[in-house]
Amino acid sequence: MADLYREFERILVTEDDIQTRVGELAAQISEDFRGKGSIVLIGILKGAFMFVSDLARQLTIPHYIDFMALSSYGSKAVSGAVRILLDLRADVYKKHVMIVEDIVDTGNTINYLYTVLQTRKPTSLSTCVLTRKEGKSLDVKVDYLGFEIPDVWVVGYGLDYAERHRTWPFIAELKKDVYQT
Ligand code: PRP
Repeated sequence: MADLYREFERILVTEDDIQTRVGELAAQISEDFRGKGSIVLIGILKGAFMFVSDLARQLTIPHYIDFMALSSYGSKAVSGAVRILLDLRADVYKKHVMIVEDIVDTGNTINYLYTVLQTRKPTSLSTCVLTRKEGKSLDVKVDYLGFEIPDVWVVGYGLDYAERHRTWPFIAELKKDVYQT
């Protein structure tokens, strides 16, 4: 435990801040979609597993959960190409669909996903993103945003470094020497 903590530069978003903001997002989404039937939350694996779980449990409107897993070809920053590793079980035709992401970094993943899901003709398509890197992302449609964060490597609350640190209840900045060596 102490060894793992030594890899953090600082805690960027505390557990309390995350839970408060997730509650606010859930309240806003519930208000916006009340009376419109069910919404389908699509959690993007693996990173969004905690966020979509906490968000869904605080919604006060009918909803379903589904998941997709995506992977980029080579370096995201270079190619921008994304492929689907796991697709939805449900048909989203004529449904209210919300993409739930842990982070928008370059914006390639969410832009690709948005385009793919639009072709399936949902009634509405929106995005709920916990963190977005300030000044870095492409022009991305984010309807519900948790936090703007600096352009550093972040871990925790679903986010990983080489599969490590995903399950912390907070978001931390990783020390540069951890990923630059
Ligand atoms: C992360 C994150 C987003 C994506 C954002 O996923 O969960 O899906 O990167 O990056 P972008 O805006 O530059 O496209 P990752 O590919 O690391 O997979 P993981 O969620 O399984 O860790």
